[in-house]
Amino acid sequence: MNSINKLIVSTVKILPKSVVFLFAKKYIAGTTLQNAVDIVKKLNSKGIVATLDVLGEAITQNSDAEATRDECFRVLDIIEKNKLDSNLSIKLTSLGLNIDEEFCYTLVRQIVEKAKILNNFIRIDMEDSPFTSATIEVYKKIRTEFDNVGLVLQAYMKRTLNDIESLKELKPNYRLCKGIYIEPEEIAYKGKEEVRENYLKALNKMLDIGSYVGIATHDKYLIDEAYKIISERNLPKDKFEFQMLYGVTQKLRDKINSDGYKIRVYVPYGEHWYPYSIRRMQENPQVARYVFNSIFKFN
Ligand code: FDA
Repeated sequence: MNSINKLIVSTVKILPKSVVFLFAKKYIAGTTLQNAVDIVKKLNSKGIVATLDVLGEAITQNSDAEATRDECFRVLDIIEKNKLDSNLSIKLTSLGLNIDEEFCYTLVRQIVEKAKILNNFIRIDMEDSPFTSATIEVYKKIRTEFDNVGLVLQAYMKRTLNDIESLKELKPNYRLCKGIYIEPEEIAYKGKEEVRENYLKALNKMLDIGSYVGIATHDKYLIDEAYKIISERNLPKDKFEFQMLYGVTQKLRDKINSDGYKIRVYVPYGEHWYPYSIRRMQENPQVARYVFNSIFKFN
């Protein structure tokens, strides 16, 4: 993030939440599940598939984790009832990973089991580095029992190529993203070019082992490179998809769709929208303009 963005985002953080929501709402479907269903229906009508996400992370009470599990059940039921083309992404710290790994595993297993019955799929998001190994462990345990679960790996993590190697027997269904959390340079690449380079190495390695890959990026350079890889490998369409976040680079998203590739949009919703939205604003190169325009409108 450039220093002007950093300054602006830290200013945004001291604004009342009601004001931040005005900037944030571009990135979230809304606060209710019905808001999210409406957005997914619109995307589906354009031939774009979705993954729903119940916003929330780092809960501290078992009862909050159980409430997240119950909300995930509601999401899976509503997808089925409305015949939506969507799966579900989950964050393990919203399901108790930061309280107890075994407790978290039990809840995730229940969600994956319900998804299996409904013929749906669960994607485990990757959070910051204190949870990387534990997330992979929960994934591995569930993957030995279920095939309708996938994992996210982050290209900025120096360990990622080794993780792909050590997980290869499971032939995971992956989402590959750059990674959003602020990590120490001992464990994470910091430069734009080295993250891109590792992204492409990871993508090729995932494809080499025969994994399905969700190519999750808005970076035009990486998307162009992915197009080349797809063409060079003559990669069948059931081996990959592109993925983007709701509210980001819609033109590029529509282009990928019209090029005939499968594209999935990550649609988050819920009351706990604040930390997610702040992360998105930090990545928006035009955040300064948005903030300025919005303040101008208020005055
Ligand atoms: P980059 O940040 O370089 O952005 C490329 C271009 O996209 C920018 O130049 C800009 O034009 C545009 N852009 C990007 N973000 C924008 C924004 N917020 N507003 C406006 N324009 C924007 N991370 C993680 O750590 N764990 C996870 O589980 C996930 N899950 C996930 C799912 C999906 C579907 C996606 C697309 C991304 C994630 N991420 C994630 C986030 C990911 O790690 C990364 O932070 C963002 O995708 C931004 O990285 P890009 O690859 O898009 O490149």
